[in-house]
Amino acid sequence: MSEAPVITFDGPSATGKGTIAGRVAENLGYHLLDSGALYRVLALASHRRKIDPRNGAAMAALAPELPVEFLPDGGIRLQEEDVSIAIRTGLVDELASRIAALPEVRKALLPWQRDFRRQPGLIAEGRDMGAVVFSDATVKFFLTASVEVRANRRHKQLIDKGLGARLPDLLRDLQARDRRDEQRSISPLRSASDAIEIDTSQSSIEQVVDLVMRSIAAKRGG
Ligand code: C5P
Repeated sequence: MSEAPVITFDGPSATGKGTIAGRVAENLGYHLLDSGALYRVLALASHRRKIDPRNGAAMAALAPELPVEFLPDGGIRLQEEDVSIAIRTGLVDELASRIAALPEVRKALLPWQRDFRRQPGLIAEGRDMGAVVFSDATVKFFLTASVEVRANRRHKQLIDKGLGARLPDLLRDLQARDRRDEQRSISPLRSASDAIEIDTSQSSIEQVVDLVMRSIAAKRGG
């Protein structure tokens, strides 16, 4: 049987990627990979084991052994513990972004990410899904939004989850993470040359999902 089709969503954090990817996966009946969650789980687990975040070899060794489960309802379990909230704290934001710059970590996560490719298809969301991990994807999207809009969205998300946050801190942290994602030597955040770019600053989730579904249909039709 031929390989399952993959549709990728890349872009900086808080562009709406996660929500949009989830809706599109639901519409198409595809599996979903939130690749940032893998970096986050690894960051949390390594922190708990007191691994030095600069030690790429130790991180890479830990990755394949992690007892992680991605539940159909979007929940994430690490050794029976629900870590869905624990991987979204400011500490993990920062740590995940740092360890994602380590070449050993990116390499260790490659097979893990590709393992999510199953029939009838996969929606993969992250920073380098279209450019590196699934470079043969059928349709690739790159979502952007101004940093102010993204900070406001993240602020609302955290407040809704009952986590405290200050807007100026979020803005500063987002800018620092953008810089790290864009400037790292391995797999820097960059739109794949064949990706469809969508600026979501002025659009609702529904409008973007609609545009994405029409682009997928056009690609399949053509
Ligand atoms: O998307 P999310 O914010 O959950 O990702 C957490 C961190 O993991 C990001 O700050 C980014 O540095 C890193 N990441 C990455 N490549 C991916 C997904 C996430 O470098 N494909």
